[in-house]
Amino acid sequence: MANIIILLLTTWVVVSGHVHNAVETEMFAIPISPNLFNWTYQEFDQQYRFHASMQGKPELPSWLRYIYSGRHHSGFIFGTPPRGTKQPITLEVIGLNRQDFETRRVLLTLRVQPKQNMARHEVELKIDNLNVEDLLDEHRMTRLKDILRTKLWTESSQDLYATFLASAIDLGARLPLKPSDGEG
Ligand SMILES: *[C@@H]1O[C@H](CO)[C@@H](O)[C@H](O)[C@H]1NC(C)=O
Repeated sequence: MANIIILLLTTWVVVSGHVHNAVETEMFAIPISPNLFNWTYQEFDQQYRFHASMQGKPELPSWLRYIYSGRHHSGFIFGTPPRGTKQPITLEVIGLNRQDFETRRVLLTLRVQPKQNMARHEVELKIDNLNVEDLLDEHRMTRLKDILRTKLWTESSQDLYATFLASAIDLGARLPLKPSDGEG
């Protein structure tokens, strides 16, 4: 009996430590870094691999994606919760240390709030010289939004937010001829 109680409490602590909030129809990203698994240093590039899924399922829900960014030394789970998303959602991320093949598991809780004022206008941009992971960077996304808010679409200054982000490759474009160029 005592064992069962301890197990439940432990699970609760792990879950409550990683709560993320999202809003319906608003794009969001959760960084997945070695720190999340209490791994502190990397001996070689891509020492850690991560796999994300919905708890108890082999994959993420269709509106979420996982990518690894070598430049950030982190993965990202990102996507846009559709309207009427059932929540909370528990995501399971497995980390693998490729040096000693130790695996660790982290549960993330995703809370999705309903969207109060639905957007009335939407613009679609294709940016050729960036990759998806560049815009998962909060600074870059803020800079891009600032360009729109202050220069290109000043009417949006009060309530601009991202509703969708995908790699041009995932949407059917070809890989750039020079690998150093952005995928778009
Ligand atoms: C990381 O460390 C914290 C604090 O000691 C602990 O609660 C948590 O379970 C650890 N996470 C993993 C994945 O080992």
